[in-house]
Amino acid sequence: MPLICIGIYALMRDCFDTIKRMRVLSGIQPSGKLHWGNYFAMMRPAIALQDRGEAFLFIANYHALTSVADPDVLREGTRDAALDFLACGLNPEKAVLFRQSDVPEVTELTWILSSVTPMGLLERCHSYKDKIAMGLSPTHALFSYPVLMTADILAYQSNIVPVGRDQKQHIEVARDIAIKFNNRYGETFAIPEPEIGKDVAVVPGIDGKKMSKSYDNHVELFGSEKEIKKRVMRIVTDSTPMEEPKNPDTCNVFALYKLFASPEEIAQMRKQYEAGGYGYGDAKKDLLAKSSDVLRPFRERREELVGQPDYVDSVLAAGAERARSEIEKTLTAVRRAIGLD
Ligand code: ADP
Ligand code: TRP
Repeated sequence: MPLICIGIYALMRDCFDTIKRMRVLSGIQPSGKLHWGNYFAMMRPAIALQDRGEAFLFIANYHALTSVADPDVLREGTRDAALDFLACGLNPEKAVLFRQSDVPEVTELTWILSSVTPMGLLERCHSYKDKIAMGLSPTHALFSYPVLMTADILAYQSNIVPVGRDQKQHIEVARDIAIKFNNRYGETFAIPEPEIGKDVAVVPGIDGKKMSKSYDNHVELFGSEKEIKKRVMRIVTDSTPMEEPKNPDTCNVFALYKLFASPEEIAQMRKQYEAGGYGYGDAKKDLLAKSSDVLRPFRERREELVGQPDYVDSVLAAGAERARSEIEKTLTAVRRAIGLD
């Protein structure tokens, strides 16, 4: 074989190995029904990565204790999140799906990591202040939330963490803690990178602010058609009259349509805005039709899964087993490094 071919082959093999080894992890709190913002910013990119690397996706029910005090709500939310992941395309043959609380070892790692976490690092986290401002109790768990999140990430030697922009600071905390630990005790943890989709960094809610359950400006992914229609029809727009040309780039309806539509469909709607004679009511109807087409297969799959609780349980049990075997490897190295072996 000519030398150049051998060179190209070696390069491709190395690239392939790197991609194959890459580990991606993300979690979602089961603290309410999933909305379009969660789906486009976190769930869809996370699920897509099951084809690029080894994906670990989990339901952060320990984290949810910072906001959910009702055990039935927590149980139901956890079950819903598992159904949502599977309905939206998570393939348990490719990705590991588990409940955070099925891997209690993560709390041991949290404590160990706390011992290298400077208070100042946590004091700078804006999400603690934001959540208190929204009325959550200022508990120790809410304050130390980023350390548990760090343990989630480092436990599985995660390389990539797809999240919405509001979680970016938490990934920076995880990186700081990993670097601190590695410097003090020797190379132990992979340093994670956040992955934030550019187009979906912040999905707007129906009032134009960031879509969030807490602002009640969200559109549920699996809400009833009636409820979704009500919310879409309430999306805030300016008052440009129907006949006049409109600017799509400042319109919340267009911003949401872009998430669902193909480039050709987006270009077509843009033209209609700019031409005039196309009202916001028309755009809302088009958004409703498009979103319902895109989400229909997920809805159908979800309905099937509701009737297969044993299957869902078996996926979660297998996921927990795999996650526990991975975290155990990390903890063995960590305990040895710090002198707790
Ligand atoms: P909520 O604000 O509705 O309580 P969460 O805080 O539970 O949502 O968010 C779960 C995940 O979804 C996180 O990764 C978060 O960054 C992402 N996310 C939630 N809402 C949005 C949004 N409007 N735009 C972009 N990402 C979002
Ligand atoms: N804090 C994340 C959120 O509210 C959920 C989460 C917990 C998470 N642990 C994680 C996300 C680890 C990514 C990686 O959305």
